Amino acid sequence: MKQDSIIATSEKVGFVFPVYSWALPKIVSDFIEKIDLSNAKYIFAVTTMGGFSKQYVSPVLIKLLKPKNKELDAAYNIRIFSNNIWGSKRMNPVPSKEKGDKRIKNGELKIEKIAKIIRNNQKGKVRESSIYPMKNSYYSFIKEVNTMDEKYYTDENCNGCGICQQICPVDNIKLVNEKPEWQHRCQMCTACLHYCPQIAIQWGEYTLGRARYNHPKIKMKEILAQNPKIKQFLGEY
Ligand SMILES: Cc1cc2nc3c(=O)[nH]c(=O)nc-3n(C[C@H](O)[C@H](O)[C@H](O)COP(=O)(O)O)c2cc1C
Ligand code: SF4
Ligand code: SF4
Repeated sequence: MKQDSIIATSEKVGFVFPVYSWALPKIVSDFIEKIDLSNAKYIFAVTTMGGFSKQYVSPVLIKLLKPKNKELDAAYNIRIFSNNIWGSKRMNPVPSKEKGDKRIKNGELKIEKIAKIIRNNQKGKVRESSIYPMKNSYYSFIKEVNTMDEKYYTDENCNGCGICQQICPVDNIKLVNEKPEWQHRCQMCTACLHYCPQIAIQWGEYTLGRARYNHPKIKMKEILAQNPKIKQFLGEY
C-alpha cells in the first residue's frame, strides 16, 4: 500500500475480505483500485459476512474491476458473524457458543468446496445484487469511515495495558498518559473494541451492555504477532 503501484504477477488473483457496508472495507477498495491486474487470467473473491449480504457479490467490487477490463470468475460469501456491534442489535447479535460453533463448522465445509473450485480454475457463483441500497450506503461509508473513531472512548475500567494500540492493524491508536487516543484513520474493523480485555472501549452508546465477540479459533496472541508486519507494509497509507 505504500508503493505507488502494485503489480500482481500471478495469473490467479484472489481478494479475500470481510463484507463492510454491503461491499468492502475501504482499505480493500483502495488496494484494488491500485493493483495492476494485467497478468491475471483467473480472478476470484471470497468474503466473510454477518448475514445480510447473502450470496451476492457487491456491485462495487465489479465496478472496481471494470476499468482494468477484468471480471470475477468466481465469488462466494461465507456467513460467519457480524462483529459490527455498533450497528443494530437485531441485525448483529453476538451468537451463543452452540450457534457460533455450528456456523464455523458450516463455514469450514464451504471453504473446502470453494477451494476445490478455485484450485481447478472453474467458474463459480457470481451474482451481482440488485437489491442493494448498497451502492449509496457504501460510498457514504468510505467517506466517513476514517473519522468514525470519533465516537470511541474508554471508561474507568481502562488500565492502560496498550493492547488496543497493538491490535489495531492500521496504527490508528496512540497511548497518551496510558489511555488510547484514536487518530482518525480508522477502518472500523472493531478489533480494539472486541479485544480490550477490560471491555473498557465503547462506541457512543451503541456498544454499552453488549457482549464482545472473538473468533474462538483465533487467539489475540496470533494477531499481535502478525500486526507489526502488517503495519510495516501499510505505513500510514
Ligand atoms: C464496519 C462493518 C460493516 C459491516 N457491514 C456488513 C454488511 O454490510 N453485511 C454483512 O453481512 N456483514 C457486515 N459486517 C460484518 C462483517 O462482514 C463480519 O463481521 C466479518 O466478515 C467478520 O470477519 P472478521 O472477523 O475477519 O472481520 C460488517 C462489519 C463491520 C465491522
Ligand atoms: S486495551 Fe482496553 S484496557 Fe488496555 S489500554 Fe486499551 S482500552 Fe485500556
Ligand atoms: S482496531 Fe479500532 S482503531 Fe484500529 S482500525 Fe480497527 S476499529 Fe479502528
